[in-house]
Amino acid sequence: MKRSRISFLVACLSLAVVMVSCGPDVALPKGGVEGLIPMPQSVAMGSGDLECHGSLHVIWPEDWEAEQDVVSRWLENAGIAMDPQSPSTIRFSRTEDVEGAEAYRLNVESRGVVVEAATGAGLFRGWMTLRKMLPVECESGCPEGFVLPAMSVVDAPFFEHRGLLLDGCRHFQDLDFVKKQVDLLALHGMNVLHWHLTEDQGWRIEIKALPRLTSVGAWREEADGTRHGGYYSQEEIREVVAYAAARHIEVIPEIEMPGHSSAALAAYPELGCTGLPLEVPARWGVFKDIYCAGNDSTFGFLEAVLDEVVELFPSPRIHIGGDEAPKVRWSSCKKCQRRMAQEGLQDEEELQRWFIERMGQYLASKGKTIIGWDEILEGGLPEGAAVQSWRGMGGAAEAVHLGADVIVSPTSHCYLDYPLRSTDLEEAYSFNPLPDSLSHGPGRILGGEGNMWTEHAPQELVESKVYPRLTALSEVYWSGPNRTTQPKAYTDFLARLDAHYVRLDAMDVDYGLESPPFALETAAGANGALSAEVIALGRGVTGRGLWTGTDADSVSSGVSFEVRGPGEVVMEVGRRGKWTGQQVAFPLDGHDAAFKPLMLSYAPSPWYTGGGNGALVDGKLGSSDFRDGAWQAQQGVDMTATVDLGAPQTIEEVATGVYLYQDAWIFLPASVLWEGSEDGKQWSTLARIAPGDVLARDDRQQRMSLKAVVRPGAPQAQFVRMTVTNAGPCPDWHAAAGSESWLFLDEITVR
Ligand code: ACM
Ligand code: ZN
Repeated sequence: MKRSRISFLVACLSLAVVMVSCGPDVALPKGGVEGLIPMPQSVAMGSGDLECHGSLHVIWPEDWEAEQDVVSRWLENAGIAMDPQSPSTIRFSRTEDVEGAEAYRLNVESRGVVVEAATGAGLFRGWMTLRKMLPVECESGCPEGFVLPAMSVVDAPFFEHRGLLLDGCRHFQDLDFVKKQVDLLALHGMNVLHWHLTEDQGWRIEIKALPRLTSVGAWREEADGTRHGGYYSQEEIREVVAYAAARHIEVIPEIEMPGHSSAALAAYPELGCTGLPLEVPARWGVFKDIYCAGNDSTFGFLEAVLDEVVELFPSPRIHIGGDEAPKVRWSSCKKCQRRMAQEGLQDEEELQRWFIERMGQYLASKGKTIIGWDEILEGGLPEGAAVQSWRGMGGAAEAVHLGADVIVSPTSHCYLDYPLRSTDLEEAYSFNPLPDSLSHGPGRILGGEGNMWTEHAPQELVESKVYPRLTALSEVYWSGPNRTTQPKAYTDFLARLDAHYVRLDAMDVDYGLESPPFALETAAGANGALSAEVIALGRGVTGRGLWTGTDADSVSSGVSFEVRGPGEVVMEVGRRGKWTGQQVAFPLDGHDAAFKPLMLSYAPSPWYTGGGNGALVDGKLGSSDFRDGAWQAQQGVDMTATVDLGAPQTIEEVATGVYLYQDAWIFLPASVLWEGSEDGKQWSTLARIAPGDVLARDDRQQRMSLKAVVRPGAPQAQFVRMTVTNAGPCPDWHAAAGSESWLFLDEITVR
């Protein structure tokens, strides 16, 4: 083989490096702060590096057995022997002169490392920083010898509450998976697992006094007839709590009330206002059957549940939910109305406050305080409650004003179940949990969480949604907004993230992407075709794929191609030089109206523009996700679109895509009328359909193609007008009965 001059030069240089590495120090793998997330508050580099050659002498503090076990196991797995004869030491030591519940000091000198803290938690956080300063190879096996540069770290978290909400209800996760998530929280310096254990779609915690909660409430029948479910036995819960405690992570259980309680009502229907039997629902959304507030047995039931919950969770705080509890049942329930009269409550919101306060008092008698979602403010802040603000930061502002403790996890930055197009990594990192307006009490922002709801995430998808966005939030909560909102902070974070990924790889974490991998751009192509191009977005993303329509062909990102007729571009996602196995599909249609002049009778909703006023002729069809950016929508109005084909032509087929998701107030149109005209003045009908008449009503969210063959003999048309009639207000049976419904369209397709 012919060798180039460059490769010869590289070979000579590597030989030189190998020779140097035989000498002292220089070429040993080196640790440092390059892969450290979250970044400590203060790092000062020193002189006189520490060398480690396969062993360390570890000096443990008193009263740190569970932690010692965690640290020793990690060192063992890394191949570092704990040897009292080793010249290099790690000393964990308690000292009163480090202030703060999780604060620590860490010094690396030539003879060893000293980690000092006043608390076991501080020592553990210090250990985690030390672990992440070792060469990243140590995660899967340390090199024989390595160097740690001398430095002095002084560190403490900015916020005292740094958590992940894990919804174990919509999809159940097995015990090992939950423990792995605890390990990952510890890796990121987080200290709370907010464990969402009861929901409409499943009750997940064994309550011995109420066995039907798990024999009935933990199981649901899916649309395809399969059963989904599971629950954690009390023994398993104790195991998770102890596992977390050894890593200084508080497990806060969430036991939802009064809403999101369908699974409990399926088990014990007498607790609802109607008393009628229910099934554990297999649909997502907000359900109107909630615990009856007029029924004394509701409180007996909840107290029995909480009696067992408080025994299982040492956390001083219990999350009682309180979100999304529709009051329709309470409004028409004699018992609830009687309760309101007896207690002098003005409305159902006050009845909710009374409900939460009553349960709060019960928990107070057990030495526990409560946390509730920001809806608990609606009937007045229940005495002694902390508030978790999720519907933006408004609830946080109100609660701080009222003097409450507050946890923030607004949908704008902290919803890890949201797609990357709503919240990408940079957006998560940009979160400021403590804007100026909230920093002046009397209440306090304790910190924040990332919320991982699992409606659309069976266990195997959870990590790809949580990470790396929770990695960003971990730094936001640990380092604090003074650091993370600095101009270069995000770039600096990304540089450290690349090393952090190696750590996540070693822990077999299926982390996801940092932003949507691709965008699809379309334009008018040559000879009436549609021109399309897939653009790779984000760091290190590459793509290869296939156009599946007529003239099927391979597609590469960054190379435009021509589309005639309908089909999909299916792209494989590459990241950091590897194919991820993830695919992204873009449905497209190169039809005769694509990129022709268009007139709309309405202004698209700013939330659903479909990409702009020309969205209905851009060739991009909507997917099964109504938030994919391709859908154009309006609420409560009919939508008419008129396209000018440029010259009269025979029209054979017309079509549009509509979306159906009644739980989200999106209904099929009452009718779709297509008309043709030669002059844009005189119109004749091409086709008309009334999808409500011809399609079965179905609650599953989906795109539906409404297509019509034009009657033979219809006159030629230069203009095509599509009038889509809104379904009218949500019907009586709907949770939002009487509210204006939404209409979603993706294209006006003409052939
Ligand atoms: C919530 O997302 N319903 C708290
Ligand atoms: Zn009732």
